[in-house]
Amino acid sequence: MNARIAGTGSYLPTKIITNADLEKRVETNDEWIRKRTGIEQRHVASDNQATSDLAVEAAKEALVNAKLSASEIDGIIVATTTPDFTFPSSAVEVQAKLGMTKGFAFDVQAVCSGFVYALSVASAMIKAGQATHMLVIGAEKMSSVMDWDDRRTAILFGDGAGAVVLSACDETDQGILATKLYSDGRYRNLLQTTGGVSTTGDAGTILMEGQEVFKHAVIDMKQAVEEILEDTKTNPEDVDWLVPHQANLRIIKSLGDHLKMPMDKVIVTVDKHANTSAASIPLALHAGIADGRIKRGQLLLMESMGGGFTWGSALIRY
Ligand code: UT7
Repeated sequence: MNARIAGTGSYLPTKIITNADLEKRVETNDEWIRKRTGIEQRHVASDNQATSDLAVEAAKEALVNAKLSASEIDGIIVATTTPDFTFPSSAVEVQAKLGMTKGFAFDVQAVCSGFVYALSVASAMIKAGQATHMLVIGAEKMSSVMDWDDRRTAILFGDGAGAVVLSACDETDQGILATKLYSDGRYRNLLQTTGGVSTTGDAGTILMEGQEVFKHAVIDMKQAVEEILEDTKTNPEDVDWLVPHQANLRIIKSLGDHLKMPMDKVIVTVDKHANTSAASIPLALHAGIADGRIKRGQLLLMESMGGGFTWGSALIRY
């Protein structure tokens, strides 16, 4: 038994903030942002849109593409670091908004690595026979934890959601072939929020040591992809598409170079929605599938790195 991707979907809020818009607020400029990050714009949710609202839109599209109704889903995992409430989970909000009254739902918190973590958990549950169809969603309202006056971070993040329906299949050479998860809490202070419910009593805003995170991102993601390729005895040249975490184009290019993958085999969407944390990989995945680049039967390699630090990878036969 394996878990295959039956359908994908995504959602980006309608409001767009361009680099030029940010120039009016902080001392920055479009050229610097493009050159250092590859980002051109980010989407921002409205005040009355919560993370679960973004997640529901992506989930609905994934269900349509999987040709399944919400009532056929056994479980929902939402990967998010910006939940609607401290409790209940955003996943049960999604469950209720989809009109589901059966199954289970819970959140996974691994910041930018959240989607890979959630995919790993869902895949294991399906393999163990605990579910047949699951919704795995990465959804974030990063704008709710951003300090818009801090140019070091205000330029980097955005809101959005991406969703995948995973379904059980008999073929063990299809679907999620392997996942690798890592974390090292010694680095927790390099990328964090200034607060939390059991410390300051509020969500806080993002604090980041950019250069340090950059260095670790390059090293950690190389480790995650090297080890998954080694474990599965896969040659990098057999990978059809790299679907990386979308944080910084320079980090993505460095990983592509390391794997000797030309950029036309790498899905890049960071220019259009900036770093949407746990939503970034499923947003990129859906973009590649929707525009016809990613085709059934192809081999996909995902990798992520984020606050914690957490990092990980997934190898998937789509
Ligand atoms: O999902 C994982 C989470 N995050 C990441 O992966 C992000 C990892 N880090 C990065 O992407 C990069 O470190 C940044 C994009 C955040 C920064 O790029 P950098 O090339 O590491 O720049 P830097 O921090 O070394 O700063 C270079 C210069 C500095 O000026 P001086 O000291 O050379 O005069 C900064 O003050 O750029 C300045 N600077 C800016 N200038 C214009 C920093 N932020 C800005 C800005 N606009 N927004």
